[in-house]
Amino acid sequence: MDRIRIIGGRPLNGTIQISGAKNAALPLMIASLLTDQMLVLENVPRLADVAQLQRILNNHGVDVMVGGKRPGESTYDGQTLLLSAARIVDTTAPYELVSRMRASFWVLAPLLARMGEAKVSLPGGCAIGTRPVDLLLMAMERLGAEIEIDGGYVVARAPNGLRGGEIVFPKVTVGGTHVALMAAALAQGATVIENAAREPEIVDLADCLNKMGAKIEGAGSARITVEGVSRLNGARHRVVADRIETGTYAMAVAMTGGDVTLQGAQAGLLQSALDVIGQTGADVTATNEGIRVARNGGGIRPVEVTTDPFPGFPTDLQAQLMALVSRASGISKITESIFENRFMHVQELARLGARISLDGDTATIEGVSRLKGAPVMATDLRASVSLVIAALAAEGETMVNRVYHLDRGFERLEDKLTACGASVERLSG
Ligand code: EPZ
Repeated sequence: MDRIRIIGGRPLNGTIQISGAKNAALPLMIASLLTDQMLVLENVPRLADVAQLQRILNNHGVDVMVGGKRPGESTYDGQTLLLSAARIVDTTAPYELVSRMRASFWVLAPLLARMGEAKVSLPGGCAIGTRPVDLLLMAMERLGAEIEIDGGYVVARAPNGLRGGEIVFPKVTVGGTHVALMAAALAQGATVIENAAREPEIVDLADCLNKMGAKIEGAGSARITVEGVSRLNGARHRVVADRIETGTYAMAVAMTGGDVTLQGAQAGLLQSALDVIGQTGADVTATNEGIRVARNGGGIRPVEVTTDPFPGFPTDLQAQLMALVSRASGISKITESIFENRFMHVQELARLGARISLDGDTATIEGVSRLKGAPVMATDLRASVSLVIAALAAEGETMVNRVYHLDRGFERLEDKLTACGASVERLSG
């Protein structure tokens, strides 16, 4: 298993190209199941999760080709995927595949909408909490699906097709909103989704579905309406910039000091996080190129933050913020309101010298003046990268084990950081 060795204490200076968003690319790839024509996705990040979803889609009969580079594309552009689901050969998504990546459960919606049936394994537990799928199933039922659980599988049927309906989510759910959109796009009649997730990745999926011929209005607000159509076409779509990658590198600079331009980043996708980074004492400026983050000299100030659905502070940046304020001059409080148990990084940050105590869903972080490198290990993607950030600011050597978590969600992490002056090296085996 690969490890990453980081020698900390160097500021970051230079430019980092922001990749396409993993959490937009995955539902967009799944949307290819909705049409027999080709869906072309540009700016797809080269990540382990993307490769894994390609295998899952292959299993359903989707032909995935990787497009060649075009003149004018820089080497840092993401890949272009050409997805063609001319014929669905299998409507079952087996446990071995779904248990490795939760988002693959979302294939339920397009399979059901297009084929009238789907059998998808329940995803099982994951490192950041129980993460049920009850609301996703409720949404499918509201559109007329009959659902039963059999042998660990969700067996969903709509022999006469789905029909529009009213879906009221009691809690904001990104996955629930994604599947509701995909299913409603091909249902007969109108659907209203209330208390919809407003995340930029929802807007990106809705934009792509509309290019494919769907009739969706209101994406990005809490009320989305969908007028179902009988078929969808192929389209070409560019994946939105990754706001979590953007926030992660912004926090890295806020922690190590230096001056970095995050090229292609869009401030509007993560304003609440940029505001918090500003409160810690870094200068954050939106530019024509992207976002410039700098911290020269001054210390890190403590903050009090609660994670919330968009436009609130994202749970996917909670661990990174905790790393950042572990060196603040004062006491910070971070409350996690989305996932219970998303604090697996706390014990590992403590190994680097952070002082963090947990009380229910709130972490109290007493800033320390220095962190010291140590061997650490992480249990999920964002927790892993919080350790990388802390290691960049720690004295001496940190070895981050279980790097495969990072490969699931951060494209060319070592290259991007090394180009800005960090000492980050991947050790194989
Ligand atoms: C998406 O997960 C993201 N994943 C997560 O990113 C992200 O943390 C999360 O949204 C919140 O922003 C992808 O986009 C692939 P939810 P999702 O449904 O859709 C509860 C990362 O690191 N809930 O919005 O699975 C749930 O338990 C990942 O990239 C139900 O109770 O999250 C949670 O408390 C991690 N029943 C809350 O809703 C349901 O049926 C929000 O979850 C569904 C969800």
